[in-house]
Amino acid sequence: MRYRWLIENRISVRDFRDIHVDKSKMIQLINYSEGIKGLLEDIKVDFIFVSDGKIKRNLLKGKVGYKGHIVEAPHYIVMTSEEKPQYLQNASYMMEELLLKANELDLGTCWLTVEDEEGLRKDLELTNAGKIVAMAALGYPKGRVPFTPKSTSTRISLYEFVYHEKWGEEPKENELESRGLMNILYHIRMAPSWKNQQPWRLIIDGEKLILVVGGEEIPQKSLLLDSGIMMLYLERIFNEAGIRVRWELYDDDLENIYETYNIPKDYKVVGCLRL
Ligand SMILES: Cc1cc2nc3c(=O)[nH]c(=O)nc-3n(C[C@H](O)[C@H](O)[C@H](O)COP(=O)(O)O)c2cc1C
Repeated sequence: MRYRWLIENRISVRDFRDIHVDKSKMIQLINYSEGIKGLLEDIKVDFIFVSDGKIKRNLLKGKVGYKGHIVEAPHYIVMTSEEKPQYLQNASYMMEELLLKANELDLGTCWLTVEDEEGLRKDLELTNAGKIVAMAALGYPKGRVPFTPKSTSTRISLYEFVYHEKWGEEPKENELESRGLMNILYHIRMAPSWKNQQPWRLIIDGEKLILVVGGEEIPQKSLLLDSGIMMLYLERIFNEAGIRVRWELYDDDLENIYETYNIPKDYKVVGCLRL
């Protein structure tokens, strides 16, 4: 996939045509989902494709979407996962890969917040053991197609989320330019996030890029889901630019990282990308 291009042009679609997606496209998407690799390969996940969205959406009201406001769509994708350390980051990393593939197939998507996991499980008659971790609406966008000029969703500037060596230190534009990072950092800001809160902060320390998330009133689950999407975007864009990178995931304060970088304690260090 041409990740940079897809990422630059992606947008949440909340208005869908009332028709099913062609069978051949659905098959491509399902086949693709089966080959997606996670950040952690020992976590078992499943993608469930719900194709009777029109019937199911009345059941889903109140359980899915901001404050239970469902986005009406002909299809939904539900993702379940085993509950293991970092399972939420792993889930969103995989789900967003699938949603980018849907965009590549000219389909529209929108992440949906799961507000009532138990109720949803019952309504969808899910019997597998995993926890419902993510959900998205899927279909043909009404009116606007995904790859036309960008919409209204605003994004923070580079200076608000990228720090040089320590928390709060302004990034060095010359250094970012000379290392080819400027362009990459510009694109990753397009990542979707819960209520568009854009909770990510990046500290660049030599060959290390440390991902930190936080923000008032953002549920922990949403922060971790937002993290996985950002991890996917960073990894894919660097790889596409010919820079091999790999994530080291942090579960606790292994290297006194909060003190080293003056990271506020109410933020969470998610991981480090070695360039
Ligand atoms: C974890 C997560 C949950 C989301 N939940 C919802 C939702 O319930 N309803 C909705 O309309 N959009 C939802 N979104 C989409 C965001 O609102 C959207 O990505 C953000 O506003 C930026 O807009 P854009 O995707 O058009 O760039 C969610 C996004 C993420 C990452």
